[in-house]
Amino acid sequence: MADHFYGYLGRDAEMSNILNAQEGRIHRLRETFVQWFHEMFTGMDAWGKDYADRRWRIGLVHVQIGIGPQHVVPAMAIVVHEVGKRLQADGKDQALKEALSRICMIDLAFIEQAYVEVSSAAVLRETGWTEGLFRRLIATGASSM
Ligand code: HEM
Repeated sequence: MADHFYGYLGRDAEMSNILNAQEGRIHRLRETFVQWFHEMFTGMDAWGKDYADRRWRIGLVHVQIGIGPQHVVPAMAIVVHEVGKRLQADGKDQALKEALSRICMIDLAFIEQAYVEVSSAAVLRETGWTEGLFRRLIATGASSM
């Protein structure tokens, strides 16, 4: 799975630059990716708070590096696709494929949540606006588009 994942990222010039921007980064990433993949099966604390916190923190790392959701979403689609292919080749039950796709989507939601929370917190900190005002401004902005 890690080979497919980093093979996919490596074919995009922008992502390949990020992956190779630091000595040893790609090696480190393979290890953290394998651990991430493994944790989907173990659920850490039965897919509880520790699991959710860990997933959110993974999102935070990507926000800090400047990797946008537009890159993370297709990358997760690759994981779901490759998992599906592998399960089919191994003759596994469809229910297993559905369960894995679901947990991938839940992981993706936590990673995405980090983007939203970090961006909102930064705006609130810089402007001193309340959360209510910020939400209203977004709703007003969205309805005028
Ligand atoms: C399904 C989507 C993705 C998953 C599950 C994933 C998983 C992870 C994990 C588990 C970490 C380690 C976080 C930590 O240190 O706590 C990480 C870090 C990182 N990821 Fe991702 N990632 C995804 C998408 C991407 C994409 C699209 C890129 C684009 C190049 C990327 C590049 C990186 C980089 C550069 C780091 C930091 C590596 C370092 O210097 O330690 N990731 N990712």
